[in-house]
Formats: sequence, structure tokens, C-alpha cells
Amino acid sequence: MRSSFANDQSERTVQKKVLITGGAGFLGSHLCDRLIEVGHDILCVDNFFTGSKENVRHLIGHPRFELLRHDVTFPLYVEVDEIYNLACPASPKHYQYDPVQTTKTSVHGAINLLGLAKRTQAKILQASTSEVYGDPEIHPQSETYWGKVNPVGIRSCYDEGKRCAETLFFDYWRQHEVKIKVSRIFNTYGPRMHPNDGRVVSNFIVQALLGNDITIYGDGNQSRSFCFVDDLLDALVRTMETSDSFTGPINLGNPEETTVLKLAETIIQITQSRSRLVYRPKPDDDPRQRKPDISRARSVLGWAPKVSLEEGLSRTIDYFRKRLVI
Ligand SMILES: NC(=O)c1ccc[n+]([C@@H]2O[C@H](COP(=O)([O-])OP(=O)(O)OC[C@H]3O[C@@H](n4cnc5c(N)ncnc54)[C@H](O)[C@@H]3O)[C@@H](O)[C@H]2O)c1
Repeated sequence: MRSSFANDQSERTVQKKVLITGGAGFLGSHLCDRLIEVGHDILCVDNFFTGSKENVRHLIGHPRFELLRHDVTFPLYVEVDEIYNLACPASPKHYQYDPVQTTKTSVHGAINLLGLAKRTQAKILQASTSEVYGDPEIHPQSETYWGKVNPVGIRSCYDEGKRCAETLFFDYWRQHEVKIKVSRIFNTYGPRMHPNDGRVVSNFIVQALLGNDITIYGDGNQSRSFCFVDDLLDALVRTMETSDSFTGPINLGNPEETTVLKLAETIIQITQSRSRLVYRPKPDDDPRQRKPDISRARSVLGWAPKVSLEEGLSRTIDYFRKRLVI
């Protein structure tokens, strides 16, 4: 059945009809805000597995916002100009909860949305991930690196699902001339992250604010690079705006590297928490280091992150303070 969104034409200056899958999640809900602000019509689609209506509650009732409960593993028939495909649980705890559904979300989701893009001639952007590089042998990772991924491990449902989605994107481009953009997102954090999703930034902040022990997996010397959500959204929107000849893949993230231990110490300092650091064994397939080479983003998008780790963490901590009512 067709969504009424297809017929929602009006007198106002509508720039584009934009479908955001996973729109009620952390990144998706900020993207809804961003695109509503510049005058687009937004169709936010989500099955609320990890996302929540709370994240978009402030937009409900807005004349250019529509929220649809839908699982992207099933086809969707709507008319749109642009598609941001963000639907997929992103934290290991959530994507390992139902790994078969995780792979289906990436693979069947990509097939359904690419089919939609083909039919409507919409541009389509895939939220891929640095996980396609697996446990990388080169550092930093550039887009030409093919990755080192375990195909049968506990993270494979996510990593290989996303890799297969990238393959589908490029095959739809080569075979059907669908206008694709593949962005490889590195660790991103900010307000509206799920407090219990087990991701390192939200974990540490919640533990620090509650005065609980801060759990470090491994020795804490594994490196990560953390990008604040506002910076990432600038890059995503710029990627969608590139000319049709640009497909990506393109790394989006913050190249400033920090260790997990340093992250914990910074959070303790900002929150002035008395939490202690405790060490636990490193989970299987946890990558030792991650850092994007963003040369392509700098040259193609004219983009680089602006928000420092301290500033981004402070804004995220403010959000969690309110959310946890501390
Ligand atoms: N945040 C990061 O650091 C990061 C890094 C790399 C890639 N990404 C990618 O960006 C996207 C958004 O991530 P996020 O951090 O906002 O995570 P999130 O879990 O907050 O958002 C994912 C959203 O997708 C929805 N969803 C899951 N399965 C679905 C399905 N089958 N049908 C419809 N909706 C479904 C969830 O309910 C949720 O709202 C994901 O695709 C993720 O893989 C995020």
C-alpha cells in the first residue's frame, strides 16, 4: 500500500522529499532535525528496535514531518527524492541480540531501499561503517583498504552485513545507474545515544554520572577516534549534495585518536566523578585501533570535524545528566 506521503504536496516551498530509515535512532533523529530546519519534507521510518519515539517527539505534528513504523526488511512503496539508509542497530550489544535480523536489516534493507531508489530515481545514501575494515592491518584506514574481517565471528552479522550492503549499492549503481553515496561512518557520539547500548562513550558517561565503576575492556590502550554528532551530520548532508558522479565510499569521522583509557580519564575529569577504573577481558574481534584517513572527505566535501573531544563530551554529559535526572 502506498503511503499518503506520496501525495502530500502543498503550496509551501518544498525542496525535497527525504526518506530517513532508522530516523528515530541516535543519528537519524538529529538528521530529521537538520533536514526539517532547512525546509525538506521528512518521512522518518523506524521499527523502534533501538530507536525511540522520544527522539523525534518534538517533531510529531510538524507539517513537514511524518513518522512511520516499518521494518526495512519489507518493501516500502513511497515517492521520494532522497533516501538516507540508517536503519540498523549500531552497538554490538544490540546487533548481537538477534544477529540473523541484523544481517537481514543490512542486506534485505539495502535491496528494498535500492529498489525504491531505482523506481523513484532517488539519490540514496548508505550509512556504512568503519567496521567494514574489521581489525585493520593498516593505520589510519583509507577507503582503498579492503579490510580484515572475520566472516564467522560474533561481529560478522554487522560487519559482513554492511559489507554486503556496500556491494549491493555498487552493483545497483553499475547495473541500474542508481545514484548512490556510500559513507563509512567512524565512532560517533552525542546527545540521544541510548544509555544502555554498551557503546564506550555512553557506557563511561553513565557509569561516571552514577558513580559506578568504569569498565574498561582489555588494557585500555586500544585506540578509537570519536566524532561529535553535529560534525558527522554536516558531512552526511554534504555527501548527499555531491554530484551524481560521486559514489564514495567516503570515510566520515574524526581523525583525532585517543585511547579508551584516556577517554575514561577525560570523562571522569569533566563529570568530577569518583568512579574507579576496572578492567575486564577484551571481547572477541574487538579491533585494536581505529582512525579514519579523511583526505577524501577534506578534498571532496571540503569538510573536517570542528568539535573537540572535550567540548563534545561536555555537551553529551549535559544531555545524560538531564536524562538520568542527576
Ligand atoms: N553511531 C555510530 O558511531 C555509527 C558508526 C558507524 C555506522 N553507524 C551507522 O549509522 C546508522 C545509525 O546508527 P545510530 O548510531 O543512530 O544507531 P541507532 O541504533 O540509534 O539507530 C538505528 C535505528 O535503526 C532502527 N532500525 C533497526 N533495525 C531496523 C529495521 N529492520 N527497520 C527499520 N528500522 C530499524 C532502530 O530502531 C534505530 O532507530 C546505522 O546504520 C549504523 O550502522 C553509526
